[in-house]
Amino acid sequence: MDLRPYRDDDAAATLDVFRRAIRVLASHDYTAEQVVAWASPDIDPTGWAARRSASRTQVAEVAGRVVGFTDVDDTGYVDMLFVDPDVARRGVASALLRWVRATAEELGLRELTTNASLTARPVFEAHGFTVVAEQHPVLGGVELTNFRMRCVLEPAAGPSSDATPGRPRPCHPNGEGG
Ligand SMILES: CC(C)(COP(=O)(O)OP(=O)(O)OC[C@H]1O[C@@H](n2cnc3c(N)ncnc32)[C@H](O)[C@@H]1OP(=O)(O)O)[C@@H](O)C(=O)NCCC(=O)NCCS
Repeated sequence: MDLRPYRDDDAAATLDVFRRAIRVLASHDYTAEQVVAWASPDIDPTGWAARRSASRTQVAEVAGRVVGFTDVDDTGYVDMLFVDPDVARRGVASALLRWVRATAEELGLRELTTNASLTARPVFEAHGFTVVAEQHPVLGGVELTNFRMRCVLEPAAGPSSDATPGRPRPCHPNGEGG
């Protein structure tokens, strides 16, 4: 698997991954009605392409095929994390989240945030994010459940600081010194 920056000609492939990820993977956690509202057939490909080009998007590819993508903005907000069902549970999202973290560190950011789906929550948790709040956004007239999550990038002062009540847990992905 290789990671590389998004190119304009990735628009159709990323939209396909987005829809397949929701229809196959997220459908274990959301109702059919919620899946249709989220992976709407009405998404305008031109608008999608414009939004992806305007975002700091990174894609994962295997043998020249786009199999996943993510993004991170200048505030550390991660809007997208989608992986094709054909390569699920093979570490693609983890590789993309390591890119997010490295990018955030290069930008000097102090935290990452996201609105994680029920499906993605365990992945973000595995990378040190914690839930701030459960949310119920309405998409296309249909209510969904997701979680506001954050991960603090400041280096911890020491091992004991992790346990200080009220202090956000520093963001240490599993297997990377957490
Ligand atoms: C969430 C998603 C991006 C995960 O992609 P992935 O490449 O399969 O994830 P990874 O293989 O990197 O998983 C990393 C770890 O996260 C956890 N994890 C991933 N999927 C999980 C699941 N369904 N249940 C429990 N834990 C899970 C595991 O700890 C996993 O490590 P392991 O496989 O060694 O046990 C993918 O399932 C997806 O696209 N889902 C639908 C769309 C979606 O909800 N996107 C998020 C929008 S916020």
